[in-house]
Amino acid sequence: MSIVFTPLKPGVGMQVTGLDLRQPITPEDQAVLSAAIDEHAILLFRDQHLTPEQQVAFSRPFGDLNIHVHQRMVTGMPEIIVLSNLIEDGKPVGSANCALSWHTDGTHLEKPVSISILHCVVAPEEGGETQFADTRRAYDTLPAETRAFIDDKKAIHSYALLQQRSFPDRPLSEEKKRAIPDRAQPIAFPHPRTGRKALYLGQHVIKGVVGMPDDEGVELVASLVRHATQDEFVYCHKWQPGDLMMWDNYGTLHRATYLDVDRQRRRLHRTTVNGEVVTGDVVGG
Ligand SMILES: [Fe+2]
Repeated sequence: MSIVFTPLKPGVGMQVTGLDLRQPITPEDQAVLSAAIDEHAILLFRDQHLTPEQQVAFSRPFGDLNIHVHQRMVTGMPEIIVLSNLIEDGKPVGSANCALSWHTDGTHLEKPVSISILHCVVAPEEGGETQFADTRRAYDTLPAETRAFIDDKKAIHSYALLQQRSFPDRPLSEEKKRAIPDRAQPIAFPHPRTGRKALYLGQHVIKGVVGMPDDEGVELVASLVRHATQDEFVYCHKWQPGDLMMWDNYGTLHRATYLDVDRQRRRLHRTTVNGEVVTGDVVGG
């Protein structure tokens, strides 16, 4: 079987067919997928029904896998984050409606994570979609003077602020705040492998821009996010069980759409590849 790529929509992402991800992939196929993620940033595989072990085995060749300090795990599999509204044995199995604002994963890290891999186990009939924006095209289409203005700017990413805005009743503990300090990340983020620049942003996670008054920095970021998430750069994925989406966090933004947690069931498993490049400076104390 050969690997075939078909656009998800013109200019945004690719669907990949011709691979069974339950089986170990060959070094040749691995190289094709690594090149594809660098080129297209967003990949979809359908009809892959993976166990957590198989998902970890598929993810591992792309790099060391991240162990999240805060999010829920599948018991015994620390590499897997569960995104779900389901209750098992009286306990939530994962985090629900936790990613409704545009973001990219792991921007709070000194070495931001590179690739995220999200696999659908249980799909809702309505809502709970994931939208992806190609922020490389967004950067490329900015006016030249805007690119020049932002090229040396850094945005301040605050996981504590994100938590406070997303779950005001569950602020981070002081210990977790110390473990996840605010970090400044380049707004025009050069890809560590290709050098291609992309907008590297978020909505609720960003406090301001280094060297700018807070309100001006926040407004600059908001206007860049509006530009990056206009329809022509965005693909919206309606999940089916067995879907696997893989994206490059250095070249995309994503968010979930609202899920009615009382009426719909959703369970997704995420693995995340650690970054290798230090970009985030600690801000504040
Ligand atoms: Fe995310």
